Amino acid sequence: MDVLVINGPNLNSLGTREPEIYGSTTLADIEAGLRAQAVAAGLTLDAFQSNHEGAIVDRLHAARSEGTRFVIINPGAFTHTSVAIRDAFAAVAIPFCEVHISNVHAREEFRRHSFLSDLAVGVLTGFGAFGYTMAMSYVIDRLTSSSAPA
Ligand code: DQA
Repeated sequence: MDVLVINGPNLNSLGTREPEIYGSTTLADIEAGLRAQAVAAGLTLDAFQSNHEGAIVDRLHAARSEGTRFVIINPGAFTHTSVAIRDAFAAVAIPFCEVHISNVHAREEFRRHSFLSDLAVGVLTGFGAFGYTMAMSYVIDRLTSSSAPA
């Protein structure tokens, strides 16, 4: 598997969840768009969503065994709470982008801290669902261009 897309808690409710903040695009729409981008670039993609912290840790461990080359993750609220997911990224050493639909810096103070951002290759926040598309464009360039890092 080249690319693993992980979405954390409550993101299965995209489309109906606080649409004034998160928009009307569903997670299925987002995943289908990312899959189309990946296929067009000749890359394989798997998508995983869970409301459970340990399940995300387990999925990251499995990703290493599968040889996953890059992870795009919207950790949802676990962004601001999860040392366990941070430690999992450090353990598996798979490069990743952190994506947020909303601009976490323009909201409540507690959303400004991420346990993951300093380990991430980069962070996209506030571009709506298009943030995933932007992250995928980066990943395609990184994985398919000969001068980019592996
Ligand atoms: C979010 C921002 C988080 O603060 C929040 O807990 C989410 C979604 C976003 O995509 O904007 O669940 O990650």
